[in-house]
Amino acid sequence: MPTILAIESSCDETAVAVVCDRQILSSVVSSQIQTHALYGGVVPEIAARQHVETINPAIAQAYGESGKTWAEIDGIAVTTAPGLIGSLMIGVTAAKTLAMLHKKPLIAVHHLEGHICSALLADPTLEPPFLCLLVSGGHSSIILVKDYADYQVMGKTRDDAAGEAFDKVARLLGLGYPGGPAIDKIAIAGNPKAYKLPQGRIKDFPYDSSFSGLKTAVLRLTQKLKGDQDSELPIADIAASFQEAVASALASRTIKCAIEFNLSTIVAVGGVAANSALRSRLVTMASEHDIRAIFPPLSLCTDNAAMIGCAGAIHLARGETSSMNIATRSRLNLEECQSLYN
Ligand code: KG4
Ligand code: ZN
Repeated sequence: MPTILAIESSCDETAVAVVCDRQILSSVVSSQIQTHALYGGVVPEIAARQHVETINPAIAQAYGESGKTWAEIDGIAVTTAPGLIGSLMIGVTAAKTLAMLHKKPLIAVHHLEGHICSALLADPTLEPPFLCLLVSGGHSSIILVKDYADYQVMGKTRDDAAGEAFDKVARLLGLGYPGGPAIDKIAIAGNPKAYKLPQGRIKDFPYDSSFSGLKTAVLRLTQKLKGDQDSELPIADIAASFQEAVASALASRTIKCAIEFNLSTIVAVGGVAANSALRSRLVTMASEHDIRAIFPPLSLCTDNAAMIGCAGAIHLARGETSSMNIATRSRLNLEECQSLYN
């Protein structure tokens, strides 16, 4: 397998890594979370400007720590879609410059394919087919990984992504940004059965989700509780009940899909896969059905460049490279990821 230097800058992390096969030689992630926390969410213009400042030091650090020379690096992989255009452009410009300067092939990578590949880095024995629950700030999908670079999206969200729902509900409860870790933490002290909240089922689409109704239900609940009592809101109980609804919805849909398609392995990736309730639900339900559940460590669940390098290596090994003229795209279906290659 080739050695790849990879760049990821689709949202608010500037990340650079060097990977060889499924081994991470170096991985640098420069997070902008503290900057965006001041605004309660990612501000695209600020994100792009910060990528400009951090990209070169991140490349220098990842290259230096990898122990490889440019002669030993076989290609430059970069996320080109989907994501924030201004943010993507910084990483793509850097990748094209490195590819031209060092005469290496450029390999464009779909961000979601990168997330799927984080599972391959976490477990070197993992081989397709498997089912992937991809839950992050921008996506909530159940993806059938039929083979390397061969995906079928079985279910997705009709409105908010799971992470978006965590962030919005946390803001509503005054818990700050990012909301997922804050809710996860406070929910430990709460009763997940305190309030029954909707799980966002979509009629006739068993693997799709809707989280906007759940978010509205939490809003109504807090308004009602504020009206009912003079004492403080039972924030821990509300957080635990909300988390329970999301975890139960996602875990049951994933396991149902795995059973239906006869898959013996599921993986959960993306920032929300760090959620403790979701993990324990998936582990319990998977073991009840003799399904293996794989969770990459948190450093691979959230945005990073190692996962982009792993996807890039798979494509380069298949002889798939991208044009130096490739454009960034804010949206691109995962099933269309082959359009990134010549
Ligand atoms: O994958 P990620 O780092 O970035 C995107 O590509 O979006 O995911 C970020 C999302 C945020 O919405 C954050 O609130 C959520 O992941 N998150 C969590 C947890 N840790 C991060 N959600 C629930 N529980 C957590 N422990
Ligand atoms: Zn992501």
